[in-house]
Amino acid sequence: MEQTFIMIKPDGVQRGLVGEIIGRFEKKGFTLKGLKLITVDRHFAEQHYADLSAKPFFNGLVEYIISGPVTAMVWEGKNVVTTGRKIIGATNPADSAPGTIRGDYAIDIGRNVIHGSDSVESAKKEIALWFPEGIAEWRSSVHQWIY
Ligand code: PPS
Repeated sequence: MEQTFIMIKPDGVQRGLVGEIIGRFEKKGFTLKGLKLITVDRHFAEQHYADLSAKPFFNGLVEYIISGPVTAMVWEGKNVVTTGRKIIGATNPADSAPGTIRGDYAIDIGRNVIHGSDSVESAKKEIALWFPEGIAEWRSSVHQWIY
């Protein structure tokens, strides 16, 4: 089953949006497989955003991510990478539709509340980086009809 990495950024944690955001993914029907509150250091943040190291906003993005605890999560379900990005909304909150997380809760691209993997391949890399200890096993079979 497909998995994605979702991170509630420091502004989302500080603004008390963790429960609201988890609720949106739960109500959609996705399964929570990993969850932790973690403050990462500069080296770790640079690893996570390594593909963006040449961008002019890279240093600001890294400073933002290390400025406080983030909520790191793994969500599982059919098409969860693409659907997760739809739930999150466009990267720039100026373009995010109302009803999406960024559309409802963000204004600035530099404080856009949440990150979601942009492909299945990225999700695998990000889950391995953020959850080297592994993620939860659901032992019961009763949940199998839930996406
Ligand atoms: S790009 O330039 O197209 O590769 O970037 P994009 O895919 O739009 O965004 C990649 C991540 O960079 C963040 N971003 C920014 N952060 C701070 N300031 C500015 N100006 C900025 N532009 C883009 C954006 O939120 C993406 O982060 P994640 O965590 O993946 O959402």
